[in-house]
Amino acid sequence: MGNYTIVQARALSEAVFEMWIHAPQVARHAKAGQFCIIHADGAGERVPLTISATNGDNIRIAFMAVGTTTKLLATLKTGDELRDVAGPLGMPSDITEGPETVIIVGGGVGVACTPILAQAAKDAGNYVIGIIGARNRDLLIFEDDMRAICDELYVTTDDGSYGIKGFASGPLKDLCESGRKIDKVWIIGPGMMMKVTSEVTRPFGIKTYVSLNPVMVDGTGMCGSCRVTVGGEMKFACVDGPEFDAHEVDWNDLMTRQRMYLAEEKQSMDFREE
Ligand code: FES
Repeated sequence: MGNYTIVQARALSEAVFEMWIHAPQVARHAKAGQFCIIHADGAGERVPLTISATNGDNIRIAFMAVGTTTKLLATLKTGDELRDVAGPLGMPSDITEGPETVIIVGGGVGVACTPILAQAAKDAGNYVIGIIGARNRDLLIFEDDMRAICDELYVTTDDGSYGIKGFASGPLKDLCESGRKIDKVWIIGPGMMMKVTSEVTRPFGIKTYVSLNPVMVDGTGMCGSCRVTVGGEMKFACVDGPEFDAHEVDWNDLMTRQRMYLAEEKQSMDFREE
């Protein structure tokens, strides 16, 4: 099997795809919280994706087909080869040896990042509570993985088609208010979801991490495209993160920068479709 062969590709929902990729160098060294950069072919951009799980020489990624490259990735099948998979990149999650109680919250495609994190927290002797949410039942991913790992799992859907109706912030708030000792919380999902959900833990003084997803190019701290402001300081998400203290992140700065590239993305999609 060649390097970067797609061992298994399948759709998890209409727009979310899962891929197991043969990438021994990445798989052997990857830790929870780290990501890889995928170069599907010679023409597309490089796309950063968090590593969702490892198994022997293979890594799992999951992504939503929204941009040029992720739409191209979604057309690839089992047995196809990717041009390049660089990684593992970024800092591993700040998991401490237990016994502590940690909550891992995933929203939308961000749930893809939760199994590897939940497993690492569990392996370190922690009590792991998972909260995963999606807009509706069809868009919910990796429930089985999380159910197998977590000591407790709460599932939410915005429309109430499955699990608890509402956002993932609901069960998180209940847990914070229950008086149970909670040591750390991770929140991974769309920017707005992470911003809003991390406000739940702030009044309780619970250390909370988010995994930021700014635009990345080189992934090695050289190009500056992934800069974010955390605690009033400039950081590079690719080397200093992608996980940061949620209560220190300048969310407005992050979201403004993400919007900066919308025109280029549209141009790229038009180019591909011509
Ligand atoms: Fe270039 Fe982080 S992606 S500095």
